[in-house]
Amino acid sequence: MSKDEMIALKLVELHKTYVLGDSEVHALSGINLEIKSGEFVVIMGPSGSGKSTLLNVIAGLEPPTRGNVFIFGEDIHSLGDEKASIIRRHELGFVFQFYNLHSTLTAMENVELPMLLAGVKRDQREKRALELLQLVQMDHRAHHYPHEMSGGEQQRIAIARALANDPKILLGDEPTGDLDTVNGRKIKDLLVYLNVVHDKTIVIVTHDPEIFEPFMRILRMEDGRIVEDNKPTESSPSQEEITLDFTDNRKT
Ligand SMILES: Nc1ncnc2c1ncn2[C@@H]1O[C@H](COP(=O)(O)OP(=O)(O)OP(=O)(O)O)[C@@H](O)[C@H]1O
Ligand SMILES: [Mg+2]
Repeated sequence: MSKDEMIALKLVELHKTYVLGDSEVHALSGINLEIKSGEFVVIMGPSGSGKSTLLNVIAGLEPPTRGNVFIFGEDIHSLGDEKASIIRRHELGFVFQFYNLHSTLTAMENVELPMLLAGVKRDQREKRALELLQLVQMDHRAHHYPHEMSGGEQQRIAIARALANDPKILLGDEPTGDLDTVNGRKIKDLLVYLNVVHDKTIVIVTHDPEIFEPFMRILRMEDGRIVEDNKPTESSPSQEEITLDFTDNRKT
């Protein structure tokens, strides 16, 4: 099987029910989905349709009520907690709408944190953190704190942090949701770059129509179900067509 055919994520009859007193909320009502390695998947749908719940269950932030999540073929909930968290840590990176950086840590320390938790030695951690900051073109801000950076810059740090352990899959819950159009576009460009040049499988939730490109697969959720699955209408751009330029952000 070629790498392109590998299934990065597979969801089988995934349900999530929240019980609130006497009432039940069916946030996920039987999700079945396969995402191939290298796909760029955009999930949209009305507020309350279960988009964040879906990402949170995939990321292991919440357990499903029933159903299975396979990450590169591993049935994640059938493994023990320890094994499951090792797989998640190595295969998944997560970017939220609000950058969620630690305010008391510098950009560099924020990016190092997941590596610290994974037991990576200091030298290696610092080297990798710097490489990632270069990748998102924020190395000139390595020793700055989050409050000294713009929203778009903080989000680039959050993406660098999500890449710390070199995951193959990047999940994003409205990663441009809190940004203006210009900065939102730059985050989108970065995600496309990571998809095309670094071969990351990308799954993001968004309300932002600026994100859509014909090479993306667009899913629509309603009432905890996937009601539309629009396959890409064009193939991905080639690596040569992708350039990243944040230069106007580098003026200090
Ligand atoms: N912790 C919780 N306890 C109870 N109900 C919850 C919880 N989290 C989510 N829900 C409910 O589950 C449903 C799906 O919520 P979810 O946050 O996944 O929606 P969403 O599609 O991400 O919406 P939005 O676009 O507004 O972010 C909603 O009805 C919500 O109220
Ligand atoms: Mg949400």
